[in-house]
Amino acid sequence: MSISRLSIQNLRNVITLDIQPSSDVNLIFGENGSGKTSILESIHVLSLGRSFRGPKIKALINEHCEDMTVFARLIADADSIPLGVTRSRNGDAVFKARGQAVGSLAELAGLLPLQVINADVFLLLEGSPATRRQFLDWLVFHVEPTFFSAWKAAQRCLKQRNSILRRDRIEGSELAVWERELVSVSERIVDMRTRAFNVFSEVFHQLIGEFVMVEGLTLSLYRGWEKDKLYADVLADTLERDSRLGFTGAGVHRSDIRIRIKGHAAADVLSRGQQKLLVCAMKITQGVVFAQLTGRHCIFLVDDLPAELDEAHRQLLVDWLDRLETQVFITGVEQEQLLQPWREKPNRQIKLFHVEQGKISEQL
Ligand SMILES: Nc1ncnc2c1ncn2[C@@H]1O[C@H](COP(=O)(O)OP(=O)(O)O)[C@@H](O)[C@H]1O
Ligand SMILES: [Mg+2]
Repeated sequence: MSISRLSIQNLRNVITLDIQPSSDVNLIFGENGSGKTSILESIHVLSLGRSFRGPKIKALINEHCEDMTVFARLIADADSIPLGVTRSRNGDAVFKARGQAVGSLAELAGLLPLQVINADVFLLLEGSPATRRQFLDWLVFHVEPTFFSAWKAAQRCLKQRNSILRRDRIEGSELAVWERELVSVSERIVDMRTRAFNVFSEVFHQLIGEFVMVEGLTLSLYRGWEKDKLYADVLADTLERDSRLGFTGAGVHRSDIRIRIKGHAAADVLSRGQQKLLVCAMKITQGVVFAQLTGRHCIFLVDDLPAELDEAHRQLLVDWLDRLETQVFITGVEQEQLLQPWREKPNRQIKLFHVEQGKISEQL
């Protein structure tokens, strides 16, 4: 799968841009503040409706404009799919695929699977469980067709249970109805997450040694409640506490991937450079597992490749991106640093772009 055309209007300092990316490797260089990250953001907006730099849409729209638009043509198998997103300062949003309004953002995310490697990757180690849960759910969403509806059902049940808990008098029979459904849907979610996690974990352990040697590294999936206990029992045991607090304390909304080194959180033990390698290995693993389980390829956005990586590890990351045979967009300040690791890969079609004050030009 690849983007064969990308056009942007009024996104940050990029007023108009229209390029035909390579289906393989796209290297984008330019000075700080020229607009490199904005170009990657535009692809993210197409997939998820928002930037990877945060949920504020207004920050994305050029300060002198009312709205921003991103359009792309996606080539998937023999299919050519036009995708378009417009977001306005007044809150209006239009998402289109094949010329028609899309039913939900999940549809766009399903069409355009992305992995991002940028400065925020450290959050996978030092951020809240939500970051790691979303990381795992990305994979589960793409490989388990019923995951999204199960996840939405769990949200609905949790909301209902919480609202019952907040009432002065708890209606036992009403609570039981929602809890029964919550338990059943949570078990399905845990099954799906466990399956995806097990494949992820196996591939990750095969691959991590190439990136960084860390003795005693373990990954484990925390379901969201105590080990060896049935969720129904946990809900019964915590009812009093939950009703005092007004929300459900245990469940699939608390799941986490625990990344530990000899019992300590990885973020507390590893150097910054080692952390970056560990999370790069996790991202590459996502790409490998995604391809293995779906037969499709996800697009990689790598913002500022050189950051925190020495030459040998830049090469390693590029070797892996090359092996994945996916379309990649990589940014950096210096042209030579971006090109160097691709020199020995004659089979990959490389396009090089220069960005200057929001304007892009292809370097031939
Ligand atoms: N809403 C906006 N309107 C206009 N310019 C913006 C807006 N948001 C950010 N910018 C500017 O856009 C430029 C591009 O930023 P960015 O894509 O992060 O550059 P790079 O990644 O090349 O360092 C920056 O100079 C920034 O000040
Ligand atoms: Mg940048």
